[in-house]
Parts: sequence; C-alpha cells; structure tokens
Amino acid sequence: MSEHLEFGMIGLGTMGRNLAFNLAENGYPVAGLATSEEKARNFENLANGLPVRGFADPKQFLASIRKPRPIMLLVPAGQPVDDVIAELKPLLEPDDLIIDGGNSYFKDTDRRSADLEGLGFGFFGMGVSGGESGARHGPSMMPGGSERLWERVRPLLEKVSAKAEDGAPCVALMGPHSSGHYVKTVHNGIEYALMQGVSEIYDGFRNGLGLSNAEIADIFESWDAAELKGFLMQISYQVLRYTDPGTGQSLVDLISDKAKQKGTGKWTSQDAMDLGVPVPSIDIAVAARELSSYKDDRLTGAALYGTMGLTSLSSDFKQTARNAMMAAMAIAYAQGFSQLSAASAEYGYSLKMDKVASIWRAGCIIRSAFLQQITHAFTSNPNLPNLLLDKEVSEILSKTHRDLRATVQSLMAAGIPCPMLCSSVAYLDGIRRAKLPTNLIQAQRDYFGAHTYERIDQEGTFHTQWVPEV
Ligand code: 6PG
Repeated sequence: MSEHLEFGMIGLGTMGRNLAFNLAENGYPVAGLATSEEKARNFENLANGLPVRGFADPKQFLASIRKPRPIMLLVPAGQPVDDVIAELKPLLEPDDLIIDGGNSYFKDTDRRSADLEGLGFGFFGMGVSGGESGARHGPSMMPGGSERLWERVRPLLEKVSAKAEDGAPCVALMGPHSSGHYVKTVHNGIEYALMQGVSEIYDGFRNGLGLSNAEIADIFESWDAAELKGFLMQISYQVLRYTDPGTGQSLVDLISDKAKQKGTGKWTSQDAMDLGVPVPSIDIAVAARELSSYKDDRLTGAALYGTMGLTSLSSDFKQTARNAMMAAMAIAYAQGFSQLSAASAEYGYSLKMDKVASIWRAGCIIRSAFLQQITHAFTSNPNLPNLLLDKEVSEILSKTHRDLRATVQSLMAAGIPCPMLCSSVAYLDGIRRAKLPTNLIQAQRDYFGAHTYERIDQEGTFHTQWVPEV
C-alpha cells in the first residue's frame, strides 16, 4: 500500500482513530502515525480490514502518502500540537497541508498558520465536533484556511462529514486562518450553556419535584420528539435511563457533581469580554462548572444555610419547564451567533452565519432541530445582528418567555440554582429594552471620575459638578 495512501493522521487516540476509519471506509486509505510500533499495529488491527496502515517512523509515514499530502493532527491542544509540527516541519514539502483537528486556542492557530504558510506549507485549523461516534460515522467540521487548499480537501471532507436532513454536508470553509477554530470554540461555549440549562431543569425535576430519573428521562424524550429535538436532549434521557451494572443503581446518581472543563467554554467567554459582546448564558455556564468544583465550601454552605425556610418547588414547574428550555436554548444560540458576528468583523473572518448554522445541523454536539430555523433566519437576512431580532424567532420567544420567567421564579423561590435560565431571561429583557438604566451608571461614572457622559437632548460630551465642591 506504500505510496498510495491518501491521507495522514497523527494522533491515533479515540478521535483520530475513528476519523481515520471513517476516511478509509469512504475510499481514502489512511496512514496513521503512532508513538510506537505496537500502537501502529494496534491501529491496523482495530481497523477490521479497512485500508489503513500504521507507522511509528515519521519519514516512512510521510513517504506513504500521495503528494501533496493532507495530514491531520488529532492530538491534545497546546504544546503537543507545537511539538508535532516541529517534528514534521523539516520533513514537509511545499503544498503539504497540515490540518489541526483538535480544540486549539484560536490565537495559537493564527501563530501556526503564519509560521507554516510563511514556509510554503498549508495549514488549516479545523474544529471537529461529534465525539467518538461523530468521528467514526460523520462529524461536523469547521475548517479555516485558504480557498485554494479548501478545494483540494473539500471532496474528501464532504464525503466523511455528517449530512443534514436535506443531504447537505456538515462541513464548509468558515473563513481564513483561525476562523474554523474560533467557530468551534463558540460552538463549545453554546454547548456549555445548553448543558447547564438542561442540568438546571433536571435539578428542578429531580431535587425540586422529587421525580425519578426514569420519569425525567420520559419527559426529556417527549421533548426530544418536538421543538426541543437535539443531541444534548437525547443523550440526557439516555444517561438518565442508564443503570450501573455493578450496583443496580441509576449511574447518574453515583457521578460526582464536580464538573470538569478543558477550556473552550472559558475561551469563548474570555474572548467575548475582549470583543465587548455579552454572552451571559455562556459565562454563567462556565462559572457554574467552577462553582461545582468547590465541593468542600458547598458542604460547609449546605450545613450553614440549610433550607433557609424556602418553599418547595411549585408543581407548575412541570408545565413551564419545557418552554423555559426552548426559550433559554434560543437565547444561548443567539448569544453565540452574536459573538461570531463580532469576531468575524474584528478578526477579518467574513463568516457567513447561515453557513455556520447549516453545518451545525448534524454531526456536532449542539445539533438540534432549532438549527434549521437559525439557518433559515440567517439565509433570509445575512446581516441579522442578533438572532433574537428575527421575526420568527421572536414569535417563539413571545410564546415561551412567560414560562421561562415562571420557571426561574419557581426555581428561585425554592432555592434551586438556575443561573443559566436566569441569565437568559435577563439577556432577553436587556435586548428588548429600548432604554436601560445605564444612564445612572454614566452619571455615577461622571460623578466620581469625571468620565463624562452624552445627553439624549444635546450633541456633545458633558461633565457636571454634581455637588458643590467643599
Ligand atoms: C465536540 C465537543 C468536544 C469535547 C468538548 C468537551 O464538539 O465534539 O465539544 O470537542 O467533548 O471539548 O469539553 P469540556 O471538557 O471542556 O467539557
């Protein structure tokens, strides 16, 4: 098979291996570079007869791939990516294309693009979403790089990608340099917000109303059959139904509540702050995971505050939670897309929001029926500044916002934390206010710091001596 392999894969862990098998199955024989001969053989054995070959030697690996070579890295983000690139660099030839398919920080992608492209090599930063099963059977992919190189890998990536209901491949060139990794980062920020929202509703059902996991699973499954249809809803009810074989108990009840994170949600929030874009549902989802890790403090807090004499959760929650989730979901997507618009302008990505929404319709973690509507909203109006300003989306919010408010009210009255749902309703109320109370903030700033303010009745910049000087 030497010299005839079509694609190189570096990093043969779960994602790399499965994507390699997906490529091989779709007619693109893959060379895999492993860290040892044993791992190289193991890769071949796991392939079950699919056309792949494992190598432990980078030179042999490169020699086996047809030129110009597409080589994907699926290694942990950060230093490992730089280490692999440093090892490859002396062995590459002009027009070889390195595709970093990990969750890299977008500024690292810019640096790596500049470096490799400066040397005449191609470089793509590509978000890959869908986990193990997505990689194997069709992920959603978000590449960023040059148009010319995109056309070279397009047929192959389209073939292995997930397909939306209308058959469209869930991969498209997002824009230049780090655009693909940026889009993937925001995808993950939305992922954090949606996961947090579902967990708050689960909390209400489980700890507020005392429903069993099986009962909650049935509710979530019924939601998944309609407007709330989506991967995260689906896996939630599957998780809630899972019984631990060892103990016979519901496994989710046995899982520690300290949530981990690898950084993409935090990067979304950090960069949103830098861009000056409000994404509170994402920010609070990151904060909620952080708070979850303060287990000892929470144990002390639980003993100190107890129930605080709060009322139990209103049974209305059962009726309002579904629409609350629908509204909060729309608001979370809206924040993510507004961040993408700002980033596109700031970093020169020229992102097309309908394209982004369209390739998230299948394969990725935040895929949902609602993404079809988002795609439609941005196709009808490519310059839509905020998804919540779309007429049809506004109709959904008009129908569901009361239930979101009622849900938040009942959860808060019962002392059940619902930061994501709460931030979402506050964001909606901010967006729909023609006049906010920030005039007072401006006056306060001017009072203590002479920061000046603008008036609504006169042009210019003003400063006032608010109280007589002493
Ligand atoms: C995906 C996921 C994937 C990964 C998350 C997990 O789109 O397939 O987002 O990239 O599972 O990064 O992130 P945390 O560990 O930060 O929750």
